[in-house]
Amino acid sequence: MELSMQEFQELSKFIYKLCGLDIKEEKHYLVKQRLSHLALSFGSGSFQGLIDKIRTGSDTRLRDQIIEAITTNETFFFRDVHPFDTFRDLILPRLGEIIRQRKASPHQRKGAKVNIWSAASSTGQEPYTLAMLIHEYVTANGHRGITLQDFGILATDISTGVLSKAIAGKYTDMEISRGLSPERRDRHFRKDGNMWAVSEALESMVDFRRVNLTEPFTMLGGFDVIFCRNILIYFDDDTKRRIFLQFHQALPDTGYLMLGACENMNMLSDKFESSRHKDTILYLPKKTPVVAFAQK
Ligand SMILES: C[S@@+](CC[C@H](N)C(=O)[O-])C[C@H]1O[C@@H](n2cnc3c(N)ncnc32)[C@H](O)[C@@H]1O
Repeated sequence: MELSMQEFQELSKFIYKLCGLDIKEEKHYLVKQRLSHLALSFGSGSFQGLIDKIRTGSDTRLRDQIIEAITTNETFFFRDVHPFDTFRDLILPRLGEIIRQRKASPHQRKGAKVNIWSAASSTGQEPYTLAMLIHEYVTANGHRGITLQDFGILATDISTGVLSKAIAGKYTDMEISRGLSPERRDRHFRKDGNMWAVSEALESMVDFRRVNLTEPFTMLGGFDVIFCRNILIYFDDDTKRRIFLQFHQALPDTGYLMLGACENMNMLSDKFESSRHKDTILYLPKKTPVVAFAQK
């Protein structure tokens, strides 16, 4: 099935509107490869037919299937290792301190959680990695008054397909072996038929929700830590600017933003400063101190 340059441009414009992916001409082959089955089933065997169907705008199922087909969902446990070492060694102890301060303060709501967001979480390996580290931290620090309930993890993605898999929390032998030691596998997963199912403890720590990062997301509220890794590379600069601005609003001055190995802010936001911890670059929000005016 042929995909003309004009058809490619129409489809890539539609994909951009749908999920912000900025697909350049050299990825013509990718659009052809990933959408040809949809052209067959929805477009009577041609890309023009698929475009006509898209133009009617009535089929939300088609929109979802285009998202499923075009997005790259590659992920694995402890991806790149060092960001999670930094989370364990630097961020978690500071979150522990924040929890203790919040619990001790008479002005804070008792039990106010620290919130961690895995944005573009794919099939769940990233949020479950964070949950494993928190579980291990709490087990080691339980005597200091910190519990699993002090942490909330929100995992979001645009694709309902990957979210369903993440919610099910079941992984094949191959998936479980990617990044996970046998010790952690046996500690946090149990065998379920020919799959590995995440433990109830980890399952209860993560909430999943569909969020399109190219649409406003300030309604999600505030977070102490945001992991947004291996998705910004697919967006253009305008989209990234809008996302950074909202991340800045969502984080307190003690917050952390973590990007993927090939991603950086690259002059797109002056609202963060970067800080290195071993091999990890952390982005720290710059916040103007609130000035209290004395009342006359
Ligand atoms: C390569 S995976 C990254 C997964 C994980 N963060 C990691 O680093 O291993 C990228 C994910 O971004 C999701 N995605 C693509 N466009 C998105 C959008 N506009 N909003 C939210 N998620 C999106 C895809 O569905 C995919 O699951």
